[in-house]
Amino acid sequence: MGRLIIVSNRVPSPRERSQPAGGLTVGLRDAVRGNESLWFGWSGATTTDSDNDPTPATDVVEGVTYATIDLSARQLEGFYQNFSNGLLWPLCHYRVGMMNYRRSDWETYLEVNALFARALVDMLRPDDIIWVHDYHLFPMGQALRDLGVTNRIGFFLHIPFPPWSLFRSLPGADLLLRDMEAYDLIGVQTAEDVDNLNQSFSLNDINARAQAFAIGIDPVEFHAQAVRSAETADVRRLVESLHGRTLILGVDRLDYSKGLPERFAGYAAFLSRYPQYRGQVTFLQVAPVSRGDVEEYRVLRRQLDEQVGRINGVHATFDWTPIRYMTSPVPRDILAGFYREADIALITPLRDGMNLVAKEFIAAQDAADPGVLILSHFAGAAPEMMDALLVNPYDPDEIADALALAMETTTEQRIARFGPLNAEVTRGTAGVWAREFLDALRARDVG
Ligand code: ADP
Ligand code: F6P
Repeated sequence: MGRLIIVSNRVPSPRERSQPAGGLTVGLRDAVRGNESLWFGWSGATTTDSDNDPTPATDVVEGVTYATIDLSARQLEGFYQNFSNGLLWPLCHYRVGMMNYRRSDWETYLEVNALFARALVDMLRPDDIIWVHDYHLFPMGQALRDLGVTNRIGFFLHIPFPPWSLFRSLPGADLLLRDMEAYDLIGVQTAEDVDNLNQSFSLNDINARAQAFAIGIDPVEFHAQAVRSAETADVRRLVESLHGRTLILGVDRLDYSKGLPERFAGYAAFLSRYPQYRGQVTFLQVAPVSRGDVEEYRVLRRQLDEQVGRINGVHATFDWTPIRYMTSPVPRDILAGFYREADIALITPLRDGMNLVAKEFIAAQDAADPGVLILSHFAGAAPEMMDALLVNPYDPDEIADALALAMETTTEQRIARFGPLNAEVTRGTAGVWAREFLDALRARDVG
């Protein structure tokens, strides 16, 4: 059998303990383990030499070859910051008003996709199977076909896809989608995303069809890590610092799609409307800075700094801080222990492709004394996790009521909710997701 070639903008640094936060690398790292694979993408660094095509730098770790290229500062700005994260990200998260379109950024986006294709093509063997990931690389399959690549090529979108009535706000949206005819299989996270993308294909006479494949985690490994992590000095220090208070935990990249201002407003409403819990709870929000060069993310960061200051200013007492808010990343092996010690996970994105944090929280729990998951209806994980306390993240009072309900649930009620959630997380693993996608891709007739 040929190798698996993964192509994604973000590639993990296999030798570093602290990884950039994000569901794509987490889900895929579990998927490539044990397969002969090559993972190709951006190095995370910039080069000053933009006249010559960069040569990929390679590193082999546990049977996986990581091959990455640098981008010039100009390419990074047009491709990653502006077109991918200043336009496609808000558009696909239903935030049309936040998108910034410039024709020159689209040109840079196409240029970098073609650059990726040129850098990859010489490393390919005829029986390799290629799997391209995410919105940074919609045209990558076509760029490879233009170079004569005939291998099977699949594509997976990790973020939501909106209805055509929204997506068409992108000038020339149909051209971007037409390039997807190059793929032999297209996967998205949920049935809603399938309907939306297929609607766009059929309304524009594009010869492509999407299918749903919900991504997961490696729950067995994550559970074991959480058990180990709970005994580490860092996690013990967290627990001691609570002085017996209930721990409410939020873990998200600092991104406007995650609904952090709305979540903080919900927590403030909880403290105001349920005063009996003041001083009884601590809300720890871990939100590592993400895409800090994009203006909307900088604005959000300032907004959150102010909001946390305000809430703590109003509600804190001399011996209690209502919100602990940190913007530095926490290594995954410590984060797992935080999840395990948390009594309540508050995960309220306004829109999310999947949300692996919700699955990690469930996997980390002690089945005899599990915590409560409060989850947004608009997370891609919600249809699989209907036994969570589901909330509309736009309504602070609904978040407040869910927090109060979570505080009141008995151990029996928590166990009853946890059982089906855990069964679902155990069934739909990252390994199953990758296997089902790749089996379907291999089964495709190719021309
Ligand atoms: P997204 O892909 O939009 O970031 P997901 O919830 O699907 O959202 O994936 C986030 C991943 O990043 C999870 O695996 C989570 O453990 C990891 N992560 C999130 N926040 C942090 C953090 N503060 N430190 C380390 N890892 C994080
Ligand atoms: O999972 C969605 C996603 O956008 C990935 O494509 C990406 O790697 C991750 O979130 C984190 O974002 P970034 O790569 O921009 O740091």
